[in-house]
Amino acid sequence: MSVDALVIGIGTGDPDQLTVAAVAALNTVDVFLVADKGAAKRDLAGLRAEICRHHIRHDRYRLVEVPDPERDRDAADYDAAVVDWHARRTDAYGEVIARELGAGGTVGFLVWGDPSFYDSTIRVVAGLAERGVVRDFRVLPGISSLQLLAAAHRIVLNQIGRPVHVTTGRRLRAEYAAELGDVVVMLDGDLACADLVPIYPDLEIYWGAQLGLPDQRLVAGRLGAVIVEIGQIRAAVRESRGWVMDTYLLRETREG
Ligand SMILES: C[S@@+](CC[C@H](N)C(=O)[O-])C[C@H]1O[C@@H](n2cnc3c(N)ncnc32)[C@H](O)[C@@H]1O
Repeated sequence: MSVDALVIGIGTGDPDQLTVAAVAALNTVDVFLVADKGAAKRDLAGLRAEICRHHIRHDRYRLVEVPDPERDRDAADYDAAVVDWHARRTDAYGEVIARELGAGGTVGFLVWGDPSFYDSTIRVVAGLAERGVVRDFRVLPGISSLQLLAAAHRIVLNQIGRPVHVTTGRRLRAEYAAELGDVVVMLDGDLACADLVPIYPDLEIYWGAQLGLPDQRLVAGRLGAVIVEIGQIRAAVRESRGWVMDTYLLRETREG
């Protein structure tokens, strides 16, 4: 059998965010594999299905849910636990591809935002190619939440001639330093930036939740002055929608 794979960045749920190339790619897919991450993430799966309905001009495609393997969140070795989780994901996808595309065709992966930021799909599909499960694959970029953050706040992510550092909430406390330049934080369920207030009182934050969706929320200001408000808004969004995703930029000084 000969199966090709497309890894397609779909932005964050608004069908208008897909590129023309991504829409063309969607229309060539026979089977989309969608990770089933349980009830809390059903809403996200629904947004993916809606994007397909909106952009695909035929009805010969199928969406197949693949139960997502559990990740060991208590493992002492974080990196090893993630590598193991990716391997089990690769196994799961390989089995479903063999079952669903026995006669060959194109399998599609709909990736939230852009596939190059904190997403395992490219690694998993590369693993499938190494194993010979897929013959070849292409990646179609999407609009990332960090681009949406910058656009919503009408800012440039870096100050003139300075770097941008992209990291996770898990690492922020240990690695934050003014020399990093502007710092974008993703995957932060605890608002780790609150711990920086006593040490960096002048930090500014540009925060956004549900970026690109109808319930998008934005807050900008001095971190110490707005952190409580951000926590309250975050809790309210989670309460009303069942999930919340937020991203923020930390900046030492305002551009003159
Ligand atoms: C697993 S990462 C995936 C990132 C994605 N590939 C991207 O390009 O945005 C999930 C994190 O992305 C950020 N994120 C994704 N969608 C978002 C949204 N609509 N609004 C704000 N942040 C979002 C959050 O920091 C979330 O914890």
